[in-house]
Formats: sequence, structure tokens, C-alpha cells
Amino acid sequence: KKKLIIIGIESTCDDTAVSIINNREVLSNVIIRQKIHKKYGGVVPELASRFHDKNLYLAVNQAIFLSRIDKYEIDAVSFSLGPGLIGSLLVGASFAKSFSIGLKIPLLTVNHVQAHILVHFIQNANINNSFPKFPFLCLMISGGHTQIIKVNDFFKMEIIGSTLDDSVGDAFDKIARMLGIYYPGGPLLDRFSKSGYSKKFNFSKPNVNELDFSFSGFKSHIFQFIKKKLKKDSFFIKNNLADLCASVQRTISEILLEKIHKATIKTGIFRIVLAGGVSANNEIRRNFILFAKRNKKWEIFIPKKKYSIDNGAMIAITGLFKYKKNFFDSINVTPYTKF
Ligand code: KG4
Ligand code: ZN
Repeated sequence: KKKLIIIGIESTCDDTAVSIINNREVLSNVIIRQKIHKKYGGVVPELASRFHDKNLYLAVNQAIFLSRIDKYEIDAVSFSLGPGLIGSLLVGASFAKSFSIGLKIPLLTVNHVQAHILVHFIQNANINNSFPKFPFLCLMISGGHTQIIKVNDFFKMEIIGSTLDDSVGDAFDKIARMLGIYYPGGPLLDRFSKSGYSKKFNFSKPNVNELDFSFSGFKSHIFQFIKKKLKKDSFFIKNNLADLCASVQRTISEILLEKIHKATIKTGIFRIVLAGGVSANNEIRRNFILFAKRNKKWEIFIPKKKYSIDNGAMIAITGLFKYKKNFFDSINVTPYTKF
């Protein structure tokens, strides 16, 4: 097979990620995390842009070094055009454009959400080590998105369910903050749940029509619950932290599973692909795998954790499919903040 080398640049939020692929094989996959936001309990957009500016050059150089290629072998540069934080996106865009001009190679722009889905077409990106066949249903769960997407082909996607308010990642992060374990909230809540009893507390699930989601009412429900308990016992959180985390996590995982179950029946498609940062959650992974074991019709694809969270490989592979379709972009493209 002919060599086709793409560099993928990801800078939508706080992590700077760069990866180099040759066809569907990953040659290097570098992530530089921004620890600075921990101090503030959440991502500070201006700081995020400044650190992308500082880290991008380092990440690109490291990715080239680790992939053992010469930079002149790179065939195209692919980057996230949106959605995301505008400052962060602009830094990535400027870098990618300059890289493309400097090396006289084509520029490819990628939608970050599509990229989370298409990462499954990287060699061995998911725990099945296989590519999902079309059509499939994607449960897209991240900090910015909560959607059920019917994927008919690489760039033929149809949103059939969506959150009416907050994303599931935001719910994880905000609830973690209520419990005093914030940034990064989701992964910490996941970790604290490990030693907890998930049936200790029962929270009511949002009642939302069809395939849509809602997490804002759920968040306030938890908030009110905790407030009430704290009035009687100021050590309530401290004494129940693991059980609280585990119970919240179980409930969220059940909400997601119930919706996807509904979607499979509605569409007749039983091939399910998880995507986005929240798909790194251990309880969600366990729950979906278990359900698929009990339902022989189900075929489930879960990204390896490094491909659940934001990464450069997903940007590179999406660029690769665009390259093959000759979907090149001009230097005039501008980032967008919303889907
Ligand atoms: O896809 P992603 O890395 O960035 C966006 O595109 O938004 O997703 C980030 C989100 C955050 O809300 C983060 O808390 C959540 O994914 N997340 C998790 C876990 N790992 C990341 N949520 C629950 N459990 C995890 N293990
Ligand atoms: Zn993402």
C-alpha cells in the first residue's frame, strides 16, 4: 500500500495533541496537558490559548521525532476547525496554516465531533481491534456534546438525538465540583467511584422525550439532595464520597444505556459505537459491555482510553479520509465555536 502520511493537530480546548499517521497506522501520538487550569477549578480560555501557543511547536517536533520520519515526508496537515474555544482554535489554525505553507503541502480541516467518531478507523483504536461497519449508531459523549448519531458513511452522519441543555461531560464535571473533587471532574469522579457502592443512593432520572437527553435538571436534583443532607450532617460528603460518586456514575450510565437501547429499536441498527471523552468512564464501559453480552444482537465498539479523550490521531484519520476524497481547504478557512 502506498504511503500516505498525515499530521493531525488538535487544540479545541485545553490539551495540545499532535499525531502522525501513515494510512491507518499511528506513528506517534503526543499529548501535552495543561495543568495550570487545576488551580482555577476549570479551563480558563485565555490561558488555554497561551499554552497552546507555547506547546504546539514542542508537540509537533516531538511527534515528528517519535514517528521516525522526516518532516518532508508529510503529505498533508489536518487540524480541528471547531467546535471549541475560539482562542485555542485560532492558535491551532494559525500553526497548521503556516505549516502547510512552509512545507507546501495541502491543508485539511476537521470537525472535532466527527473526528471523535472516525477515530474508530485507526488501526486497533478500539478494544475490539476492528473497524465498525456502516451503518452504525454513535453515542457521542464529551464535554461539549451528548448526541446519538446515525452514521451511514464517513461523512454521512445524521443526529437523531441530542441534549436539550448541558452535556453529560459537563454533568460529570459540575457534580464533581459539588463534591469538591474538581478538575478534571469526570476522571476524578470515576476514580473515587472505584471503592464506592453504586446502589447506596437512588437519584431520579430525567424524563425526556424520544432520543433526547437533559442533564440540567439532573444536576440540580443532585445539588438539592446534597444540600439537604449537609444541613443535617456537615460531614455527609466526606463520609459518603465514594458511594455518592459511584451512585451518580451508575445513574448516568443507565440514562445513556436506556437511550441507546431505545435508538436501536427505533432504527433497527444494533451496531453501537461509543465516542468522546466520557466514553473513557469505567462504569459506562462496563455497563455497555455487559449489556452487549446479554443481547446477542448488539455489537459494541469502545475506543481505547487514549482514543476516547481528545487526541491528534482522530484529527489525522479524519483528514486522511478527506484527502482521499480531495476535500482540501483553502488558507482562508476560519474556526467556528459551535457545531
Ligand atoms: O472529548 P473530550 O476529551 O473533550 C471534548 O470534546 O469535550 O471530553 C472531555 C469530557 C470532560 O467533561 C471530562 O470530564 C469527561 O470528558 N471525561 C470523563 C472521563 N474522562 C473524561 N467523564 C467521566 N469519566 C471519565 N473517566
Ligand atoms: Zn473532544
